Amino acid sequence: MTATLRSLSGIKPTGTPHLGNYLGMIRPAIKLQEIHETFYFIADYHALTTLREAPLLQEYTYDLTATFAALGMDFNHHTFYRQSDVPEVTELTWILSCVTGKGLLDRAHAFKDASTKGQEVNMGLYNYPVLMAADILLYDTNFVPVGKDQQQHLEMTRDMAIRFNNTFGDALVVPEALIEDKMATIPGLDGQKMSKSYNNIIPLFAPEKTLRKAVMKMQTDSKTVEEPKDPDTCGVFALFRCFANEGEQAALAERYRIGGMGYGELKQLCFEHMNAELAAARERYDTLRANPEQLEGILEAGRDKAKRVAREVLARVRNRVGLYQ
Ligand code: TRP
Repeated sequence: MTATLRSLSGIKPTGTPHLGNYLGMIRPAIKLQEIHETFYFIADYHALTTLREAPLLQEYTYDLTATFAALGMDFNHHTFYRQSDVPEVTELTWILSCVTGKGLLDRAHAFKDASTKGQEVNMGLYNYPVLMAADILLYDTNFVPVGKDQQQHLEMTRDMAIRFNNTFGDALVVPEALIEDKMATIPGLDGQKMSKSYNNIIPLFAPEKTLRKAVMKMQTDSKTVEEPKDPDTCGVFALFRCFANEGEQAALAERYRIGGMGYGELKQLCFEHMNAELAAARERYDTLRANPEQLEGILEAGRDKAKRVAREVLARVRNRVGLYQ
């Protein structure tokens, strides 16, 4: 019998979950439950590198918990938790930082991007990749499903694990990235990549009317209904593809290329497919989101499961480096 492989990923509670989060991370993560044992967590320590409003951290944490619950995360067989409920991760962060060259962190994109944009670079942001490595290594993770933007962090995580193992003897599992490419291509309202920082998001569980309005508002060029259009370069079509099966995509692409189909009609179809996939989950979400006690219950159970693994791995690490236990 082969041992079950474990996948782990985290998501930062820094805003209301949007369609980009759903298609890029949440939907594939939920699907992965079918083949791997999964650990998913809310990266609230990471959010502290930028978030400055305490009540919002709590709200966004509940938004995410209700989102995963509504979309079918199986809490009995898998583990869902809040990062800060397992503070052991900060101890591993320290230990890893002692085998990580400063030069490695100097090359990290995340803080460099912030500094080019003139944003504050605090030490949390600078150390972000070490905390992320600790998130992953603390749970003997085999695979990490993430968007392409996280590839560098995963390479750094592997470097740290290998460096640790070479220095102190094997104790850490060296993980592999499972890169989800869609994230980069999910267009927002203005056609750029959907991202909170571009202010172009479509909230995942917006009420049906708001969702429809948002889709209808997506920017396009000004081609007339009759003109032929290219499904491969159109943002609305890209979004449609995320919610339609292959047959539906092929049929519509054909009509689109010939001409006679306008943006209004495509948007309406896009909305209908989207809504068909999300409507039932949206209802579950609304009920769950109104019940913080239930959400805390989910997080508590997850915390207990996560802690059991974390303690075991941390004991192994402490032993290797010679800390008293
Ligand atoms: N940095 C990730 C992001 O911004 C979130 C994250 C934190 C994460 N820790 C992680 C993802 C560990 C995967 C594994 O999307």
